[in-house]
Amino acid sequence: MNMHSADATTAEEAIAIQETLDSDMATEVAMQDTLLTPRFYTTDFEELDAIDVSGIRDEWDQLIDRMVSDPNKGHFKKNQDWDTVDWDGMEPKLKKEFIDFLISSCTAEFSGCVLYKEMKRRGSNKDITQLFQLMARDEARHAGFINDALREAGVAVNLGFLTQKKKYTYFRPKFIYYATYLSEKIGYARYITIFRHLEENPQYRFHPIFKWFEEWCNDEFAHGEAFALLMKTDPKLTKGINVWWIKFFLTAVYSTMYIRDHQRPAFHQALGVDPDWYAHEVFTKTSKLTQQIFPITLDIDNPRWAAGLDRLRRANVDLAIAKKEGRKLAQFGASVRAGLAFVGLYTIPSKKHKVPSVTRMEPAY
Ligand SMILES: [Fe+2]
Ligand SMILES: [Fe+2]
Repeated sequence: MNMHSADATTAEEAIAIQETLDSDMATEVAMQDTLLTPRFYTTDFEELDAIDVSGIRDEWDQLIDRMVSDPNKGHFKKNQDWDTVDWDGMEPKLKKEFIDFLISSCTAEFSGCVLYKEMKRRGSNKDITQLFQLMARDEARHAGFINDALREAGVAVNLGFLTQKKKYTYFRPKFIYYATYLSEKIGYARYITIFRHLEENPQYRFHPIFKWFEEWCNDEFAHGEAFALLMKTDPKLTKGINVWWIKFFLTAVYSTMYIRDHQRPAFHQALGVDPDWYAHEVFTKTSKLTQQIFPITLDIDNPRWAAGLDRLRRANVDLAIAKKEGRKLAQFGASVRAGLAFVGLYTIPSKKHKVPSVTRMEPAY
């Protein structure tokens, strides 16, 4: 009793603890359904289970040993550093955007947890199941901690309900590698950029959760390392036609982040962060990190890049308005504009790199 999801050693334990808490909460399900944009994924678990890590054993064991040592056990819970949050006094627009941010972050964390937990459950390969169990453990703690923050605002994401009701998107394993690797590394870059900014400008830290971002992003960093190593087991994954897929995922992940962040102006203003600066900073860091395994990076300093992102963002705003108003023709027009803007971004020549023979890195930002 009285155990916290931060102390749980498995994902199952952490979710069960969170669910006991939620049974007494009024969950604002309807609201969450409109905001839960991050997807849930499923894949070909047998193919994943067949991965042989013996060719990268040294790097693999170092990573797993570190995760087994569990440096962040017990970290993700409120302590004396958790300042009181004045939810009632918070400016309504900021409150709405911040809750939206927390819900979508919680869903993204939990989406990772569900995928990793399922891989652990279905697999029989000791290396793979061990890795996925460790990652599921971390993501369950992260989701649980965000839920703790949301509960103070009278909102909570019912994790059990989400697992059952949310739609799952099937991705082939290689697409899971590209998408998940990128989301872990961009997650690291996002959290560490905010953490460092608030370290220098503490007057903008309007909520205590940001104090936890450093250890948090180190977990995401480690998860990204794991996917880099999984890709390294099969050199075909980062060659030939697959380089085009890598470029596709880079473009999609970066532009999705850009659009979503620009939907939260009050949140970024409260943090003292210009969303254009933040996007460029996060893309720069992510691009540096992904050179460990991807042979290309996007040319984010090309003038076509910033212009294309803005075009894509505007098309998306118009699309949302047209949808809301039920104007079919305007919807079609905005979709075409969004598609063209994306093609414009995708066709910017990428930068080529030589991939180093040693993959593993340490968080350095
Ligand atoms: Fe996470
Ligand atoms: Fe993660």
